[in-house]
Amino acid sequence: MCGIIGFAGNLPAKDVLIDGLEQLEYRGYDSAGIAIMDPSAGLLLAKKVGRVADLREAAKKLETKGTTGIGHTRWATHGGVTDANAHPHRVGRVTLIHNGIIENYRDLTVQYGLKDMLKSETDSEVAAAFLDKVYEGDPIDAIRKVVKLLSGSFALCIMFDDQPGKIYSVRNVSPLVAAASKKGAIIASDLTAIIAYSKEYFVVPEYHILTLSEEGIKVEDMKGNEVKPEILTVNWDISAAQKGGYPHFMLKEIYEQPDALSRTIMPRVKDGLPYLLDDGIDDEVLKGVKNINIVACGTAMHAGMVGRTVLENRLRIPVTVEIASEFRYKDPIIDEGTLTIVLSQSGETIDTLEALKLAKSKGSKVISIVNVKGSTIARESDYVLYTHAGPEIAVASTKAYTVQISAMYLIACRMGFVKGILKEDEAKEFVQNLMNAGELIKETLLNANNIKRIANYIKVAPDVFYIGRGIDYTMCLEASLKLKEISYIHSEAYAAGELKHGTIALISEGVPVIAIATDENVYSKVISNIREVKSRGAYVILISHDDDINDNTICDKQIKIPDADSTFSVFATAAVLQLIAYFVSDAKGLDVDKPRNLAKSVTVE
Ligand code: M6R
Repeated sequence: MCGIIGFAGNLPAKDVLIDGLEQLEYRGYDSAGIAIMDPSAGLLLAKKVGRVADLREAAKKLETKGTTGIGHTRWATHGGVTDANAHPHRVGRVTLIHNGIIENYRDLTVQYGLKDMLKSETDSEVAAAFLDKVYEGDPIDAIRKVVKLLSGSFALCIMFDDQPGKIYSVRNVSPLVAAASKKGAIIASDLTAIIAYSKEYFVVPEYHILTLSEEGIKVEDMKGNEVKPEILTVNWDISAAQKGGYPHFMLKEIYEQPDALSRTIMPRVKDGLPYLLDDGIDDEVLKGVKNINIVACGTAMHAGMVGRTVLENRLRIPVTVEIASEFRYKDPIIDEGTLTIVLSQSGETIDTLEALKLAKSKGSKVISIVNVKGSTIARESDYVLYTHAGPEIAVASTKAYTVQISAMYLIACRMGFVKGILKEDEAKEFVQNLMNAGELIKETLLNANNIKRIANYIKVAPDVFYIGRGIDYTMCLEASLKLKEISYIHSEAYAAGELKHGTIALISEGVPVIAIATDENVYSKVISNIREVKSRGAYVILISHDDDINDNTICDKQIKIPDADSTFSVFATAAVLQLIAYFVSDAKGLDVDKPRNLAKSVTVE
């Protein structure tokens, strides 16, 4: 969602800001803007609906060597996609950018008589107006007064006309990271925008006020006490956030999966068994677990569903998987034997974060599976199992999904072992298979050209159906989401046996049905379901372990994945399904990495 960058240092701010906004584009946005303090001309502003490239063009007319400024990419929530609603917002002496939602903006407008100061429809501009109203020359004091009265989530970067060379910042919930380097102080929504300047950074603590200047960053709490935040080190390079020769980030990230899996799994295997002690998860935590709530959103939730099949089928532990936005508004059943596992690539998804807090408040221990180090979800959890996928830039999640599955498997296997449900040799065999997951993906990727040809058939279809049973059904759910989000083709995922209870009415001549059949226990059942759609004219693409079937009463096209137990075939199947979505989107000439209306990190509910 909205991306924030601020810079106060000794480089031309215009370049730093626009380059940084380009790095933040992946978060999803519909307009962009910058504001720069020019030593002679004063405050210069450029903002525009459209891409950062359009802003770069528009900003050419800002002739400035100013070295202090703020930049923003906006994902509209309050107010339409217009130039006026784009950030930065300037009211009186205050110029500001905001990520989040100020929930009480209407009340503040009325109560403090701000209406006549506003030119946009945004909640953000209200914060700028309010600040200008209370500002009496002491920025910290003004910020303190305003922040105390804001409700909702916010990350704010603020410049005051009479404070040259300084940016002030404060946040609640919405993420911000900051770094001080020889070139100056920099702050941003995430690391991708600051890694070019520093590998050392800190997570901006909530309700602390930052003053950024060429000299560095001062952090103080709301009472004015100076605070030294913990300095973290980025463990990846700027090249990890670049395309590295691939036409799109999504394709690059699909191909990165074998390495991402190995980075996530290998350090957690000791003597052939899963080892989670380095993550702070000792066996006592897992031993007493009687039931599990898995909570997440979107793709991360689908990874949780894959995890559930293993926990339930192999370990006989009851598991519920909940959509975080639903979980947070219900009264979840939690007792002393309940473990909550939350999954999140970004570690910032607001619904997942709130669900986590709810589970904790009810007494559940929480393990989070998170990709971004130091993110809010990671910090709020009792235990964190970091996935090591590296930065995922494409909006469509790929490598984060498969590493989340692998982390779920590690937890499941260790839990099964310490509970005595899995014998040592069974647990070791499980781990052995898990360590081979990357190889299954590598082998599958060799089939990319065949998958691309098949995608050419799908690209013209108005509707696509995915069918499968058991663990393959969970893969269908993820496949359908992936296709919809980047190709804009309507698709649905169905448990293969359920189709004839209604949806089969939609099957007619030529409708693509992608069937997944990797589980030998239900293989013949899926084949029967395939025959049902085939005899109604469907164009069936079968993903299975079969060699050439050569029977057009079953399928029109086949994608063979490497032999493996269905628990581990998910890795190969995922790669196939990701490639299908990717090639369809690309063949349609769409913006694969930045699909319309979507944001990478969903920080509003
Ligand atoms: O960062 P998170 O894993 O918490 O994000 C959750 C979902 O928004 C995310 O998985 C989304 O569904 C994917 N980007 C879709 O590919």
